[in-house]
Amino acid sequence: MELLDYKEEQKIYISRMPELLNRVYGRTPTACVITYGCQQNVSDSERMKGMLCEMGYTLSDEAEGSDFVLYNTCAVRGHAEDRVYGNIGAMKHYKRRHSGMIIALCGCMAQQESVKERMKKSYPYVDLVFGTHVQYRLPEFLYKRLSGSPRIFEIGESEKIVEGIPVHRDGDFKAWLPIMYGCNNFCSYCIVPYVRGRERSRRPEDIIAEAKELVAKGYKDITLLGQNVNSYGAGCDFNLNFAGLLRKINAIEGDFRIRFMTSHPKDCTEELLDAMRDCEKVARHLHLPFQSGSDRILSLMNRRYTREKYLSLINAAKSRMPDISLTSDIIVGFPGETYEDFKETLSLVKEVEFSSLFTFIFSPRNGTPAAQMEDVATREEKGKWFDELLKTQDIISKKLNADIVGKNYRVLCDDYGRKEGKMAGHTVGTAVIEFDGDETDLGKFITVRVDAVTSVIEGTRIN
Ligand code: SAH
Ligand code: SF4
Ligand code: F3S
Repeated sequence: MELLDYKEEQKIYISRMPELLNRVYGRTPTACVITYGCQQNVSDSERMKGMLCEMGYTLSDEAEGSDFVLYNTCAVRGHAEDRVYGNIGAMKHYKRRHSGMIIALCGCMAQQESVKERMKKSYPYVDLVFGTHVQYRLPEFLYKRLSGSPRIFEIGESEKIVEGIPVHRDGDFKAWLPIMYGCNNFCSYCIVPYVRGRERSRRPEDIIAEAKELVAKGYKDITLLGQNVNSYGAGCDFNLNFAGLLRKINAIEGDFRIRFMTSHPKDCTEELLDAMRDCEKVARHLHLPFQSGSDRILSLMNRRYTREKYLSLINAAKSRMPDISLTSDIIVGFPGETYEDFKETLSLVKEVEFSSLFTFIFSPRNGTPAAQMEDVATREEKGKWFDELLKTQDIISKKLNADIVGKNYRVLCDDYGRKEGKMAGHTVGTAVIEFDGDETDLGKFITVRVDAVTSVIEGTRIN
């Protein structure tokens, strides 16, 4: 694996930026980064914000009035892309009124050739379009464009991992920590392997150094990120798998929690479940997408596991950790799916009793095999199935919530409650509990007893 130090390549541009920015704007310019999609994108945006701060920009939440506006986009469903086209369209008017404004599109949507071409032709006010493989070159792109270069379109692929990029983290106690990039699974509906490239893992020493730094800075909740964390280390010259990595991060001294996502059922092992059970800092939460409960549909999806294998994994997790929270992703209305297939999904949902679900209606993505498959169900039918799934899960969530009344939980206070005088905290699973408190509680672990579950979970603090 070729490694590149970001500073070596980009430091020259960064060092020249303050002078250039002063010449162009005559003041400290502002930058607004707008992020769509999954946590991987949120994490990438934190790194691009880090570079922007190093270049001399001040960050802003408002696109209107910002000197640089960066859209970090998602391509996983059609809806995600439609929103971006709408929002970029609106920027045309802002830019007319704002001389020196630079607009950029990056991320998974931008990585597609068709999107690049559309931007070139129909969005002349978008200055920079760059893909997921070259985000570390943001200083270079900005420097060149601000010095008068033509619009830049750069979506080349590379299998490099770039270390050393500065990070501007959005949260004060919760942090994202990418451990790998890309995906090799090619589930037949999914665009991610095409826009994120081949799977590649960061070196353990880089991950552990970043985790230690986070703990030293007071972060209390660290989420390890990858499209398929269970294949961490595959094909690498170091000898450490994901279970081993969890144990190493767990051994870092300090009071903090470790979370991770996402796990693919085909690669989730008993060794990993053992590590989760043994590591006291690892949250008792497993996000294990099953997508469909029908073996026929799973095979069309190229998921490479069966319903039976999935259920045996769930049982293995529950038997090791009876208090584990389980969550999942489900696709409704995959091409060829019938009501009989969908009923298999419903019955799996009832059998497992997930804490919560992320449910999606199939969206055909250009270039994926599923986009060519014949669809039998109508939009209305899919809508009805989707509602039935939500209702089924709602009953399960209510039942699980009723079971927690009277129990004590250790929460990390990470937000304000919905009412004045209330604060909110996450359990080691997925629940959020509200209790009496104030902002001095933020970032602290607090034990609460659950009193009632209405539209929110209410509790009383014990200490
Ligand atoms: N790597 C992760 C998830 C990536 S995308 C994993 O394998 O679980 C997040 C979720 O979006 C997927 O789990 C799937 O449920 C959903 N998804 C992906 N492509 C989709 C599509 N074309 N239509 C609808 N949902 C999709
Ligand atoms: Fe997409 Fe499948 Fe890879 Fe997840 S594992 S990112 S669903 S191809
Ligand atoms: Fe979307 Fe890219 Fe994530 S397609 S879901 S932002 S990896």
